[in-house]
Amino acid sequence: MDRHAAQIRIQKLKAEINHHRYLYHVLDREEISDAALDSLKHELEGLERQYPEFITLDSPTQRVGGEPLDAFTKVSHSARMLSLVDAFSYEELQDWQIRNEKFVPPGTPFDYYAELKMDGLAVTLIYHAGIFWKGATRGDGVTGEDITQNLKTIEAIPLKLEFKKLPAEAHSRAEKEIEVRGEVFMTKKVFERLNSEQAKKKLQTFANPRNAAAGSVRQLDPKITASRQLSFMAYDLITDLGQTTHKEAHELLKQLGFRAGEQNKFCTSIEQVEAYHEMIGGIRGKLPYWTDGIVVNVNDVRLFKQLGVIGKAPRGALAYKYPAEQATTIVEDIQVQVGRTGALTPVAHLKPVKVAGSTVSRATLHNVDEIERLGVRIGDTVIVQKAGDVIPDIVQVLPKLRTGKEKKFVMPRKCPVCGSPVVRREGEVAFCCSNKQCYAQQHEGLRHFVSKAAFNIDGLGPKILEQLFRADLVKNPADLFSLRELDLTPLERFAEKSAENLITAIQASRHVTFARFIYALGIRHVGEETAIDLAERFGTIDKLMAAPPGELNAIRDIGDVVARSIHEYFSSKQNRELVRKLLQGGVVVTAERRPVRVTPLAGKKIVVTGTLASMSRDEAKARIREAGADWVSSVSKNTDYVVVGADPGSKAEKARKLGVKMLSEAEFVTMVK
Ligand code: IVH
Repeated sequence: MDRHAAQIRIQKLKAEINHHRYLYHVLDREEISDAALDSLKHELEGLERQYPEFITLDSPTQRVGGEPLDAFTKVSHSARMLSLVDAFSYEELQDWQIRNEKFVPPGTPFDYYAELKMDGLAVTLIYHAGIFWKGATRGDGVTGEDITQNLKTIEAIPLKLEFKKLPAEAHSRAEKEIEVRGEVFMTKKVFERLNSEQAKKKLQTFANPRNAAAGSVRQLDPKITASRQLSFMAYDLITDLGQTTHKEAHELLKQLGFRAGEQNKFCTSIEQVEAYHEMIGGIRGKLPYWTDGIVVNVNDVRLFKQLGVIGKAPRGALAYKYPAEQATTIVEDIQVQVGRTGALTPVAHLKPVKVAGSTVSRATLHNVDEIERLGVRIGDTVIVQKAGDVIPDIVQVLPKLRTGKEKKFVMPRKCPVCGSPVVRREGEVAFCCSNKQCYAQQHEGLRHFVSKAAFNIDGLGPKILEQLFRADLVKNPADLFSLRELDLTPLERFAEKSAENLITAIQASRHVTFARFIYALGIRHVGEETAIDLAERFGTIDKLMAAPPGELNAIRDIGDVVARSIHEYFSSKQNRELVRKLLQGGVVVTAERRPVRVTPLAGKKIVVTGTLASMSRDEAKARIREAGADWVSSVSKNTDYVVVGADPGSKAEKARKLGVKMLSEAEFVTMVK
């Protein structure tokens, strides 16, 4: 390639790489694989090495390139980086509005723009002629630290702004200098991975994602920051590009190429802000990042300015936070739990305490290294923290409150459930029960299999599972699908009705998505997210079972340990046998939650009464479900069909009265075929 051709190719490669970066890190979409993108970057690096005169500041190769610094230099902020006043209740939110109204002429209308309060750290970004020039931390609000090199490693931060989508008048102003503020944060997934890697390397783990993000951005070596996979969400446009409202500022930020305004809401009243706060409160556990509240802004920019600043915070904005998620309590005991993979997890039994609205009496301590890191002893006063819906964590011990009677925890040498020796797997922190047949492992495996995110079988609580296990009826998940009503009725706690309900629930759960199926198997390190990734990548169980570790490893977010674990799982004859039994026993892996088949019965509600000659009741139910219809137990005017077998009961009579269409067995059989 000659010099001119190289120059053109470099330009095109930069644009292409940037396009995919934007899709993935800003829009959360993906058009080409990691491997393909790496390959493009590799080609670009090669060409730039050959023609260094074509390297530009906004080249994707310039994200990590800087040498470690000795210290950060100071930066004076063009406009003070303020903080926010906190509110914790609707009353405080209302008070804020009442206060604001006093600063403006009576009757001034107020609109609000409500957004997520990201739990990370504030930074400011300055662009010259659209190219990222300098970025800094907040510091004391007046002076921060220059962390440009580190910010460049964050792929959600554009190195070059997009001007094409801006309105014409904003375009000319944007050419000079643009200052944008926002939050650098770490997603929950990255945070958890980082902490488990840190623990493995016997390095300090982070108490929360904010500390992790702050610690990562303040590294003198940008290579470390790069490895932390930070993200960025913009929330303020300091430069005047003609925006008259905060909402418009967010639209401009998006047009410039920033990730911004996810979940944000324009509100015309404080009641609407309250509803938004409640809505986010309900979903924040499921968001991929942490939010500790919402930020409410007076939407009109002029009004916002008019309200001014009090102390270090603007009057026109408020952090409306969720209740504290930490509390202190006493560790009454530390006991060991055996999980489905055999790992022994120390669990702290706590003096019950309220955290974020619910009472907490247990906290996981993860492993012995974690106990050592925290320095926690039985009898200690500790700080517990709840993040989302997960089991609470102990984040800190308060050693000054010790009496001297506290006891150190010792890992038992024998499994507390089956008494087999406890072993430590090579290279891992967890201690494990050495017995694969350990009751705890099998029982936990079953619990996992029926759990909400897996097969979601109603009515199979731990007690019933234990009963089925002890009665030798269910030893592994595949056994569930061959259970019959008459297996259950002799058992204590089972009446005819409850037996029927349970069988119905089991049969109803047989159609699962491929991702749920994978998750349900309980493969070590394969959570819901990984299961989704695997399902998307492989499509069928046969392909997944045959995948070598290398192929698994090539998937984004699947590292060596997870790849090895999946491969090991499917190398076991017993596990392959389980998969086979599940599929032969009636489990149907679907593309969607329910089978979408075009049959005359799809979406219909069907009742069966009397005895069918060609199939059992359970079979009939299964056929009905496979046809995409619903099996219902009693006849109402909403019933579509009643299938009438021999010796029909009162249901046939009722159907006749209500004018519900009746089907003979023969008609039914043809329809479900
Ligand atoms: S507006 C006037 N919007 O919360 C200060 N802040 O306690 C401008 N934060 O230092 C802040 N998400 O680090 C704003 N959507 C959001 C935010 C947000 C997180 C942080 C920010 C700030 C702190 C204020």
